[in-house]
Amino acid sequence: MKLLVTGGAGYIGSVVARMLLDNGHDVTVLDDLRTGHRAALAPEATHVDLPIHEAAQVLTPDAGFDGVLHFAALIAAGESMVRPELYWRNNTVGSLALIDAVRAAGVPRLVFSSTAAVYGNPLELPIPETAVKAPTNTYGATKLAVDMALTSEAIGHDLAAVSLRYFNVAGAYLRGDLAIGERHDPETHLIPIALEVAAGRRDKLQIFGDDYPTVDGTCVRDYIHVVDLARAHLLALTAAVPGRHRIYNLGNGNGFTNRQVVEVVREVTGEPVPVETAPRREGDPAELVASSALAREELGWVPEKPTLHDMVGDAWAFYRTHILEQR
Ligand code: UFG
Repeated sequence: MKLLVTGGAGYIGSVVARMLLDNGHDVTVLDDLRTGHRAALAPEATHVDLPIHEAAQVLTPDAGFDGVLHFAALIAAGESMVRPELYWRNNTVGSLALIDAVRAAGVPRLVFSSTAAVYGNPLELPIPETAVKAPTNTYGATKLAVDMALTSEAIGHDLAAVSLRYFNVAGAYLRGDLAIGERHDPETHLIPIALEVAAGRRDKLQIFGDDYPTVDGTCVRDYIHVVDLARAHLLALTAAVPGRHRIYNLGNGNGFTNRQVVEVVREVTGEPVPVETAPRREGDPAELVASSALAREELGWVPEKPTLHDMVGDAWAFYRTHILEQR
């Protein structure tokens, strides 16, 4: 297939772009490198340096794209509470412009990076796709708005749409000399920050809140390996059906508290990783654990690296070889 990957220089988008290329697809990456990294761009892909609201310049009717995988977005839940306007403009308005371009160009399918953050504080655990959607942060709200637009687009204009609701993505794609991992600037995610502490680049990790209604008072999240997540995108591309918007949660169904995550980082790295308790971060749901039964059933998705040790081990290998050694 001829595919456009928005955000293909980012953490997840760049892993998916590589896997698409490895599977014989023709890949164009649209990424303005505002948060993405030039080094993450696959050399075999065509790179278009444009923001998503200008995607129509590439998605022309003559270009013959078979599909779009839409990753480009702002992703920090905490930041979305203090700068909400950025999130609405980039994530929602930008995605609506992209959907307009997809329609105008007659592109038949679109796979969208949605999020567990659409559910807010869930009433049922593990969370099925049918659970109440009540996001507690602006990030989740901006993604939910796009999910709803895609449902309308599928019905109204026959788009084959798939939303993949990621839970917490971790790990790295390691293949020979190639390693693609997480490198946000500034980093906001728990595992890479804990690795920075393990590596001596920060003196301690702050744990945001220890009075949540969970086993040790810290938030619970469900972690998924980036390679397992990437494989779900390839499956979604072929499972997409015109006129339908399919939605799948992607996680492993196992919840880990923030303190348990830090413990795994200590075990994997052999470093002490000092922590201190800090106030809650605005907008954080207490517990997010996925039911991915639908993805398993309808996409045939089976995670190959479901353990947190695997994810932290791969993230640590990437961090040591590609971040520490290159400074
Ligand atoms: N946390 C800390 N200290 C830190 C960083 C994070 O205690 O320095 C805590 C957070 O408060 C939260 C947990 O670690 O309780 C996980 O936080 P992350 O920022 O790593 O991830 P989030 O759960 O906020 O969000 C991530 C992605 C979203 C995605 C969501 C789905 O960033 O894109 O997972 O669960 F939608």
